[in-house]
Amino acid sequence: MASDRNIVWHDASVSKEEQQERNGHKSFVLWFTGLSGSGKSTLANALTRKLFENDKKVYVLDGDNIRHGLNKDLGFNDDDRKENIRRIGEVAKLFVDAGHVVSTAFISPFREDRDTVRELLGESEFLEVYVKCNLDTCEQRDPKGLYKKARKGEIPNFTGIDSPYEEPENPEIVVESDSQNVEESVEQLLRELKKRDLI
Ligand SMILES: Nc1ncnc2c1ncn2[C@@H]1O[C@H](COP(=O)(O)OP(=O)(O)OP(=O)(O)O)[C@@H](O)[C@H]1O
Ligand SMILES: [Mg+2]
Repeated sequence: MASDRNIVWHDASVSKEEQQERNGHKSFVLWFTGLSGSGKSTLANALTRKLFENDKKVYVLDGDNIRHGLNKDLGFNDDDRKENIRRIGEVAKLFVDAGHVVSTAFISPFREDRDTVRELLGESEFLEVYVKCNLDTCEQRDPKGLYKKARKGEIPNFTGIDSPYEEPENPEIVVESDSQNVEESVEQLLRELKKRDLI
């Protein structure tokens, strides 16, 4: 525990509320979850670009990039996946403290792990975005060739193939990426944020 290690919290001289006030918008996390190839990275980045062009403070935390650095010590077994998500949740929270709109793009297949991040953040600071796309479509897209490898048994514990994906039960937003295009999905997301007075 932190208290056992003589680590004492120091309050920030600039508060989250002050950051938000200066930025002119709320800070929060859009937690994109869904199968590999469902479009999490594509949508998180397209939305972020739009928000950036509208002078919002933004940042994307993306699965592969984080695994190159912060989480390069982690693999894909259940414990490592859990720790992967926990760390990302903590980093996302720091960006929220800094006044940013953070979009995260991780498969995050387990409900419990997503709920852990939800609990880290305030009620209106976490929006679970379920990028819903049927497995066949994801597998046809296969933008990184991962499904092909997984089917050949070259990638164990691949979500949707030999590792489960637990669908969100009460996501704030569902984007059906197998029936609408990227532009329509981004418009939908912007509408949802405006409706909630977040931007
Ligand atoms: N409506 C759509 N929404 C999002 N992506 C789409 C759509 N239609 C086609 N695509 C394509 O599907 C692919 C989605 O890949 P992307 O890397 O965004 O998925 P991902 O969910 O981030 O996967 P991973 O978990 O492996 O990182 C892209 O090549 C994108 O251009
Ligand atoms: Mg991705």
